[in-house]
Order: sequence, then structure tokens, then C-alpha cells
Amino acid sequence: MSELSVNHLLGIKYLKESDIQLIFETADHFKEVINRSIKKVPSLRDITIANIFFENSTRTKLSFELAEKRLSADVINFSASQSSVTKGETLIDTVNNILSMKVDMVVMRHPNPGAGIFLSKHVSASIINAGDGAHEHPTQALLDSYSIRERLGDVAGKNVVIVGDILHSRVALSNIFALKLQGANVKVCGPKTLLPKYVESLGVGVEINLRKALEWCDVANMLRIQNERLDISYFPTTREYTQQFGVNKKLLDSLDKEIVIMHPGPINRGVEITSDVADSKQSIILNQVENGVAIRMAVIYLLASKIKQ
Ligand code: CP
Repeated sequence: MSELSVNHLLGIKYLKESDIQLIFETADHFKEVINRSIKKVPSLRDITIANIFFENSTRTKLSFELAEKRLSADVINFSASQSSVTKGETLIDTVNNILSMKVDMVVMRHPNPGAGIFLSKHVSASIINAGDGAHEHPTQALLDSYSIRERLGDVAGKNVVIVGDILHSRVALSNIFALKLQGANVKVCGPKTLLPKYVESLGVGVEINLRKALEWCDVANMLRIQNERLDISYFPTTREYTQQFGVNKKLLDSLDKEIVIMHPGPINRGVEITSDVADSKQSIILNQVENGVAIRMAVIYLLASKIKQ
């Protein structure tokens, strides 16, 4: 297969396994490009991309912008807090105004689940979901799987546990879809109050004992508590959460094997992960960030190829 089966990247849910493999093969090429002395290719000189962020971001925003610039696309950035959204302008009006400036592709982060899907039905540009509320964060899941493949050789057959606030996490849902599609075994671990009731229907196991989860897995993906989405108290105190669900060096060293530690960021050091684990050689957290640029270059390049047809 040489092209994606989709015209937008709205969620992993809409991808086929062959789409993921095509993105990874394309990212392999771009990873080689961004490690050269000249890190840029002229592929998208005729494409204009708008990054529109209605929610804060460090990694995703910078990574998309860098990926676009490495591909030689023209880039405009929009931050809702500094825009006329604060004066009451709607999402569709905002995006249509941006598109009037002849924009081909929109990368959007939005607090509302389904915002990207909604937009794709109302505008002509290709849409990439850079995180929509607690729904999906597809490029994060792609770079996570790509990083597992890079460290362990393959994703299929690997045991992956996702630890923490699964209920409010778009990273968890996109990772579950991506890992299952590639044949990994997936478990979730966290306080019962932060595990969605439907989670087992997604084909994942539940383990509420962190030690047992770590003994089972090859990879542990540690998530932070999404405090900005918590409407009520889901566990007694942060200290108790850390005691039960935080990973520390003593716990890792007591396992009879070396597991891979991941985190999508931002990290709350000392809560879900201690500094000595985050900065250890078992951690691939910064490899994930590095791979994010190559993965986003691949996604943008493949979607732009469909616009050009
Ligand atoms: N992983 C991630 O989405 O980080 P940001 O919120 O900083 O983009």
C-alpha cells in the first residue's frame, strides 16, 4: 500500500493496520532525514498548514511545527487565547476565516471530544487531530508504538500496561486502539475510579495491582493525572496515589526483568514517576519526543499526497 486509507487523521479508530505500517515506513525515512546535517526536504513547498490550538501544548505544538518546517511547508500558528475566539467567534467561523487564506491542512487541538470530526465535515481542508478532549490523540499513539518498535523490534506480541488516569486520557484510548491493531497485549492499571467501565470491551485486561502489572509487562506507559479534567476527587490524596500507582527505582529494580518505561509528557515528577526512573536508561521518554517529529512528518506528508491528487 502506498497511500493512506483516510483523508484526515481524526483518530486511530479510523485507521487500518496497513496505514500504521505505511506511516512507520515513511517515518523511518524522515528519521534518517532529520539526523542529517541538512534536516530539511522540499516535499511540501506548495502546501500551507495552520496549527490551531484551543488548549495548551508544549510537545505536540512544537513537534508539528518543526515537522511542517522540515517538510518546507508554509506554516501559520493560531492560539485561541490570543484570538477573536475570546470575543465569541465560533469554531467553524474561525477555521473558515483561516481557510480563506488558502490553507490546505489544519492541525487542531481542542478540549471538546469529536471537534476534529465535526470540523472535517464542515471544511474542505485535511484535518489532523492533535488531541480532542479525553477522546483521541492519534499522533501520540503512533509515536508511542513507533518508539516501542524501535526499542523492542516489534509491537506485535508485546505486553503493554498503561498506568494511571485512563478515564480522562486521550493518550490511553488512542494507544489501546493502536496497540490492539498491531497485535500487542494490553492491560490498564490505576484506581478503579479512574478506569472506564467499558474498558474491557476494548479488548484490554484490567490489573489494579501495579507490581503485578509490571511483572506482566514488557512496556509500562505511565500517564499523569489529568487534573484539568477532574470534576470530583477520584482518590483520597496524591500521596496515596503515588504509593499505589507511582513507579520508582526500588520497585523497578525488584522486578526480575528490565521493562521499558514510557510517558507521553508532561511528567509530574514524584507523582506517577520518580526522577531517577524518568531519567534512567530504561526510560524512552525523550526518544518518544524525538520520534514525534518523524511520525508527524510522515502523517503530514502522506495526507498532503492525497490533497495533491
Ligand atoms: N504529549 C502531549 O500531548 O504533550 P503536550 O500536551 O505538551 O502537547
